[in-house]
Amino acid sequence: MCGIFGYVGNRSNAAGLAVNGLKSLEYRGYDSWGVAWKEGSALGLRKETGKISGINPESLPACSLAIGHTRWATHGGVTAANAHPHLNEDRTIAVVHNGIIENYQELREELKAKGHVFLSETDTEVIPHLIEEYLKETDDFAHAVRLACQRFTGRYGILAVHTTSDTIVAARTGSPLIVGKAPDGFFIASDTPAFLEHTRTVQYLDDGEMVITNGKSIIFSDLKTGEEKLKREIEITWSIDEARKGDYAHFMLKEIMDQKESVARAVNQNEEEIIEVARAIENARGTFLVGCGTAHKACMAGEHFFSIVAGKHVNVAPASEFKLYHRFLRPESLLIAVSQSGETADVLEAIQVAKSKGAKVLAIVNSPGSSIARAADYTLLINAGPERAVASTKALTGQLAVLMLVAYALAGKLAEGKKLLLETASMINDMLNPRYADYLSRVADHIKAKEDLYIIGRSWNYPMALESAIKIQEVSYIHAEGFAGGELKHGPIALIEDGMPCIVLAGNDEVLPDILSNAVQLKARGGYVIGVAPERNEIFDEWIRVPDAGAAQPIVNIIPIQVLAYFLAVQRGKDPDMPRNLAKSVTVK
Ligand code: AGP
Repeated sequence: MCGIFGYVGNRSNAAGLAVNGLKSLEYRGYDSWGVAWKEGSALGLRKETGKISGINPESLPACSLAIGHTRWATHGGVTAANAHPHLNEDRTIAVVHNGIIENYQELREELKAKGHVFLSETDTEVIPHLIEEYLKETDDFAHAVRLACQRFTGRYGILAVHTTSDTIVAARTGSPLIVGKAPDGFFIASDTPAFLEHTRTVQYLDDGEMVITNGKSIIFSDLKTGEEKLKREIEITWSIDEARKGDYAHFMLKEIMDQKESVARAVNQNEEEIIEVARAIENARGTFLVGCGTAHKACMAGEHFFSIVAGKHVNVAPASEFKLYHRFLRPESLLIAVSQSGETADVLEAIQVAKSKGAKVLAIVNSPGSSIARAADYTLLINAGPERAVASTKALTGQLAVLMLVAYALAGKLAEGKKLLLETASMINDMLNPRYADYLSRVADHIKAKEDLYIIGRSWNYPMALESAIKIQEVSYIHAEGFAGGELKHGPIALIEDGMPCIVLAGNDEVLPDILSNAVQLKARGGYVIGVAPERNEIFDEWIRVPDAGAAQPIVNIIPIQVLAYFLAVQRGKDPDMPRNLAKSVTVK
């Protein structure tokens, strides 16, 4: 949540670079934005509510140091005053911040008692004021930032600048910060797409670290002790084109279409690593899969893969609930943390809980170098390429593919799993053709005026029913709910009214007769039954054809729903890439 960006170096368009960088970070928050830049011995500032998309980067003054922020509101409403950067009273210090300063009320009272005046409702505003206080004790700006940081509880990634120095000081505790090293300066941002067009050489800050750069050199140090640290430089392999939407109207559509290749990329794993991971699961006394939102639904499907393919029991929990599982954890336990961004706070907390009990952690992530990947003992990358739309699409199918592959490896049938997944990837390629999209657009047109929609599935299609509901809710704002087919008659069926769209996810599997009888129950109550299945059935009012993919059925079944959700959003006049109230990377608890 919230994107932060900083540049200092030889270029004279630092503020413009910040605007462009923030545009790439808008998926992290888009209710307001702001940029501060060094103009001679003063700080220039521009803050506005709404999206940054409209602003021309060249409209900002020439400068060689700037910091910027795109906000997802936590403390205080969406106003220009609450937008970052935040400054102290004499406007000598500017700060952008991602995360939450939990003890901000106490600090605010303390600072108010010393005469500081606050202009916003944010937790962030205490930061420049506190730095100002410490500048009374030291004339070293970085040291003042360090002393201020030692007072904060909570999570933060911050960038701070001061009128008397041409440096950016950054500190991280809990919220991601990545340095980009270019020939003509340094970038610091919440995520790599912000500077990918300028450099692919990156250095990741770890928790409890600080960075000071003047654009020519950079110093990493321990946030508490000030002791200098050496940092490895890493080359990012993601291309800039992958991070752009190209000719597509929206990132969501582009990323759905990317699945023509991304599923095959997910399958392209180092076999030895997959086997090592399978061995770790086999030897573990208790394996737990956790994730949030869509990634959690991938974990739920993973439970079925492990059970059906490998006869192995695993436990699944939303990451936000996992800390309650601490009683079941021991050093022989294994936590499998699934995440696209690799930065989700709830997943990081689950990892902490597991580690505190000595358990091992396997990360299945999309973002290489992310906090979750770096905290894990084993990491499998899903190789989906950058996912920018808030609605997760290609990351989900990548997560499903990797979980399936691991399940096959566990069953000693890795080659079979690989073959099935590569066949599935080729089926997806055939499936995502313009005619299919046109058909789904017509289905969307037929149901777009409805305010309620239900989706049912059984076995591994049950998590996909839940995921379908998330996809439709978050981009179209239709009230969509997913149920286990068998649960209908225990309550939800009371909601079914004449003409209500009911999506039934089916496959040629052991639960087909059961899910079809649930479809009959829906139809008998007037439901408009949209079947997603390899074969037509007379019970379906609408049939969305999907290939018969065996154990990979959940992967092919979710794809038409992603397309349907996209069209529902667009046809209802909503922006599918930036749904209200949401952010791509949820770095608060
Ligand atoms: C999915 O469409 C969501 N926007 C959301 O549920 C997401 O999957 C969740 O926040 C987890 O994110 P992560 O995969 O980056 O950890």
